[in-house]
Amino acid sequence: MAKGKVLLVLYEGGHHAKQESKLLGALENELGIRKFIEDNGYELVATHDKDPEPDSVVDKELEDAEIVITTPFFPAYITGTRIAEAKKLKMCITAGVGSDHVDLNAANARKITVTEVTGSNVVSVAEHVLMTMLVLVRNFVPAHEQAITGKWDIAGIAKQEYDLEDKIVSTVGAGRIGYRVLERLVAFNPKKLYYYDYQALPEAAIKKLNDLSLILNGRGDIVEKVDSLEEMVSVSDIVTINCPLHEKSKGLFNKELISKMKKGAYLVNTARGAICIEDDVADAVNSGHLAGYGGDVWYPQPAPHSHPWRHMKNPYGGGNAMTPHVSGTSLDAQARYAQGVKNILESYFTGKHDYRPQDVIVIDGDYATKAYGERKK
Ligand code: NAI
Repeated sequence: MAKGKVLLVLYEGGHHAKQESKLLGALENELGIRKFIEDNGYELVATHDKDPEPDSVVDKELEDAEIVITTPFFPAYITGTRIAEAKKLKMCITAGVGSDHVDLNAANARKITVTEVTGSNVVSVAEHVLMTMLVLVRNFVPAHEQAITGKWDIAGIAKQEYDLEDKIVSTVGAGRIGYRVLERLVAFNPKKLYYYDYQALPEAAIKKLNDLSLILNGRGDIVEKVDSLEEMVSVSDIVTINCPLHEKSKGLFNKELISKMKKGAYLVNTARGAICIEDDVADAVNSGHLAGYGGDVWYPQPAPHSHPWRHMKNPYGGGNAMTPHVSGTSLDAQARYAQGVKNILESYFTGKHDYRPQDVIVIDGDYATKAYGERKK
């Protein structure tokens, strides 16, 4: 008899998983951890059937699962109701970064540990952020549509095509991803880089960016921390969101805040869809107040066909740089988060519970990270 049950929830890979064995995050390849789990005496149940609650395979299997593993790309939402039904649940593991799909307060109330593989895909996301900025600012999507549909209307693209150079770019959240975005932006010679975060970057980290900018662009002092989000967005040409989703960041980019953004600015969000009010973003793009919005995160996931971000376009026909949630699941990232999940499981199975501190989101009934909102300990 198995010591306990591990429930693994992943997206279906179908023929793609057969074509590419490195696609570890697909259901068929099970993060490469079935044998490891079974060798440790646990049963593994893997499924993609997560919706709707409460009629999915996840609901049925979670009832006696000890550990649930899921990804942010195709998240099983571990809601308070599901946690209440999951009487044996001890640990939720995120194969990736960002554990907002778990009701963290409900997990705390039950002393369920929530861990993730911190850092596993932060470069992957930072690269996607830079790509999305360029796709928007260079008006790439309509230009590519012309290329493949046989058109050659230069003016139609150029009337909304700019350079990234000399723009003011700001990030909401300057943690692992936000900092890497700033680092990569320096190479594009921005006018100014601002960040808004209740945790200040270390002096050395700011100095590194300023020194880099001085060497590359002859401009020092380009990075600055700001205390007012409203002021920051009102002067920025591009704003990127890189903070976790929690009570204080949910719906942060609403009609009011977006109205304070410069007309013709761009908003890039690879953090979490629910940080933005979907209709407020779509209205701002459709009306042209925002020249564009891009990213890869939605709520819920998978996003319904009717989700307004699938269809929004600015009045010139561009300004939509959305993809499905893929930025943090490059094959390079998959190798790292699959290994990270295995390490967390090993620590759990041996009873050592010596997790990497940065991987622990909640434990023993409390938050172990400062990233999920300012909290009084
Ligand atoms: P991190 O923990 O290194 O940094 C997050 C930063 O955000 C912290 O400095 C924190 O103080 C700050 N923050 C929190 N609330 C804030 C607020 N309301 N306003 C301003 N700053 C705030 O996390 P990391 O690795 O940089 O990841 C950030 C988020 O990006 C994750 O929580 C996840 O939601 C998302 N993500 C998305 C991925 C994707 O595939 N699209 C992959 C990985 C992460």
